[in-house]
Amino acid sequence: MALGPITTAPAPDFPAMYQQLASLLLRSLADVDPDIAKAIADETARQNLGLELIASENFASQAVLRAAGSVMTNKYAEGYPGKRYYGGCEFVDVAETLAISRAKALFGAEHVNVQPHSGAQANMSVFLSCLKPGDTILGMNLAHGGHLTHGHPLNFSGKFYTVVPYGVRQDDERLDYGAIEQLAHQHKPALIIVGASAYSRIIDFERIAAVAAAVGAPMMTDMAHIAGLVAGGVHPSPVPHSEYVTTTTHKTLRGPRGGLILTRAANARAIDRAVFPGVQGGPLMHIIAAKAVCFLEALAPAFRAYQAQVAANARRLAQSLHTEGFRIVSGGTDNHLMLVDVFSKGITGQQAEAALGQAGITVNKNAIPFDQHPPMVASGIRIGTPAVTTRGMTEAEMDTIAELIAAALRTPEDSAALGRVRAEVEELCRTFPLYPSPA
Ligand SMILES: Cc1ncc(COP(=O)(O)O)c(C=O)c1O
Repeated sequence: MALGPITTAPAPDFPAMYQQLASLLLRSLADVDPDIAKAIADETARQNLGLELIASENFASQAVLRAAGSVMTNKYAEGYPGKRYYGGCEFVDVAETLAISRAKALFGAEHVNVQPHSGAQANMSVFLSCLKPGDTILGMNLAHGGHLTHGHPLNFSGKFYTVVPYGVRQDDERLDYGAIEQLAHQHKPALIIVGASAYSRIIDFERIAAVAAAVGAPMMTDMAHIAGLVAGGVHPSPVPHSEYVTTTTHKTLRGPRGGLILTRAANARAIDRAVFPGVQGGPLMHIIAAKAVCFLEALAPAFRAYQAQVAANARRLAQSLHTEGFRIVSGGTDNHLMLVDVFSKGITGQQAEAALGQAGITVNKNAIPFDQHPPMVASGIRIGTPAVTTRGMTEAEMDTIAELIAAALRTPEDSAALGRVRAEVEELCRTFPLYPSPA
């Protein structure tokens, strides 16, 4: 039975048994739950009117949002396409099969699992597939730019495995490949983890893969931050050099919030079994549909141009901030992000994050390598260009953004001055409109 036009009241000729269902389906969010509708409207306005510089965030397209907010959220589909534990999976199978084939084409991978709910669960699944509790893993130190799931003591990775961390050199703040090699030979890890959350330089996957081969360890690259750059040809791909590649789909890749695993055909069965039933139950089919949309968008030529602009904007913003007198960790950036040592100007990362927040500029405080401050205070902020580039901003706006950041951080305690910066931020953002307000 057709539900008829979308109105806020059920169609009058509906049989009584459908009245309640129809009213649930047809009433708008604002009618059903005004508090949540208002929170979403406020968040839409915040995203529209603020400068989003958090390096791990982006703005998904309306098409991605539409798929993520679709009725596929209702479907249980434990298992994989064609081999499910539930009936009625013919259409979610279409979505998952498309997501898999598009991700394979995008990254040149032999096998793909699109079901991880998040980046953390993608990593957990790889560990479950190839490690035993107590095994040694070699991963980048969180304090030098690594991720929690690469062996932090408070994370499952640090609790279940024996962790040997590696980091950057103190003199140039770049990955210490010599130390990685030496540590690998000394500790003979069962897995070498490559990838970072706050590292602004190209990672030499080939070089670490040679170390991994020499000690007989598989290498897992977590490309969560740089996946979009890899897809867009702006960063070398880890896929040919890694036994496993994990990623999120919501950062530079600009898809829905979620995870993804790419691997060689020989690992397909072990990885699929690790994700389900190893780590997860039912897959989020609405998110898998949205991942498929994201991969289709990323296969289009315009995505390469977008990623090139993300990197060009990051380079320009780093230069402009340097001109404003800030020290940029490692002297610059090759990717979508930079670490700014704000303590070089006498304020902490915590103070900078708060002052910029008042000015409508969203960043996160971040430890810099060999930081003297604890992580909740930090000497730095992390800044990324994926979101502002999605709005259409280019180099000229990066110069303006550097001026606005410098202005806000000159007077971090002066609310009136920060309010004046905020007015300029809003004016700039209105020139680059984003999402329409929700109905
Ligand atoms: C390198 C890296 N891996 C994994 C993750 C975890 O992703 P999620 O937040 O989806 O669990 C992140 C998130 O910031 C990340 O930066």
